[in-house]
Amino acid sequence: MENIPVFQPCIGVDTLKHLTDALHVGWLGMGATTKEFEDRIAAYLGLEGRYVVTTNTGTAAIHIALEAAGVGPGDEVITTSFNYVADHQAVRMAGGEVVMCDVRDDNLGIDCEKAEALIGDRTKAILPLHFAGIPCDQAGVYRLAHKYGLRVVEDACHAFGTTVSGRKIGSYGDIACFSFDPVKIVTSIDGGCVIVDSEEARQRLHHLRLLGVDKDTTERYKNRRAWDYDVVSAGYRYHLTNIMASVGVSQIKRIDEFIASRRAVCQAYQQAFGSLSGVVVPGTDFQNISPFIYSLRVLGDRREALVQHLRSRGVDVGVHFVPVHRHTHFAKCRIGDMAVTERVVGEVLTLPLHSHMRPDFVERVIAGVREFF
Ligand SMILES: Cc1ncc(COP(=O)(O)O)c(C=O)c1O
Repeated sequence: MENIPVFQPCIGVDTLKHLTDALHVGWLGMGATTKEFEDRIAAYLGLEGRYVVTTNTGTAAIHIALEAAGVGPGDEVITTSFNYVADHQAVRMAGGEVVMCDVRDDNLGIDCEKAEALIGDRTKAILPLHFAGIPCDQAGVYRLAHKYGLRVVEDACHAFGTTVSGRKIGSYGDIACFSFDPVKIVTSIDGGCVIVDSEEARQRLHHLRLLGVDKDTTERYKNRRAWDYDVVSAGYRYHLTNIMASVGVSQIKRIDEFIASRRAVCQAYQQAFGSLSGVVVPGTDFQNISPFIYSLRVLGDRREALVQHLRSRGVDVGVHFVPVHRHTHFAKCRIGDMAVTERVVGEVLTLPLHSHMRPDFVERVIAGVREFF
């Protein structure tokens, strides 16, 4: 029996063509294709007066986004423990301290009431995650940000293409970060980007991305180098190469079909599992969601038994996430009440979801879960 992986990249001849073309240009590093990828991201998200800066990972994007937001030593950043550790590491890389908040039961995003209780004199920013592509309580987050004068860096790594009130996440608000890592809907093998709302912030990100070097970004976007540059700030080596960007360009051209195919699978899962007692399905119809993963909740301490059952039928599953406050390196962080997190981390289970997922795979996942219950 063929194993069904949790993630499966959707790489066609179009991607191979973009990649080989890029390899033949004679300019492998950051260049014109990086710029093209940025332009396509801006067009796809419908940006007006906002700017895209790509990076070599989503983690790097979050790191320089936090620095551009002014996070530095002594500052606290509030994020969720129910999250990937990239955010917490990025806060530390920026010199800040992580404060971990609980999530809401309905969307597994930040609980703004509990977040408010964690805000203090040192709080600089909130770093909320749109888990699985489903929007968190954005209005609540921005209300807190306005009330207390905080910056918001949205971790939209799961939500490239998700729409809220007709606008794509990242096309409004403060700062948003995306990931194009190997398992994301649009991959550039590894990559990410930051969206900011001023030329000045874009300039700052260009410097942070490329070792603090000025001018050179403009030249590299033409597949050239500037030799009379200055170094104007601290910086990292976080830029995205033409080669990686060529994969990203090929993928973003197909994003509408990728999202539509994933939505259809999620809707089939909702239909099949919505009436089962013993599971809680995501509280959405997926109409406006760009679904990165499909994560349901298994009640009554039965998750492990379901995992074994599915594995015995060749269905791989994942767990998003192990809560970060339980990890050794983050065990001493300031945390709030974690009642919901502590409960749901024992329940969440990620089922296979691919772009253009094979119908027989979808049927086998559905049959596997339904026969267990
Ligand atoms: C929620 C979240 N934030 C940040 C990241 C980091 O992105 P990257 O893997 O591109 O560094 C990931 C990656 O899986 C993620 O899931």
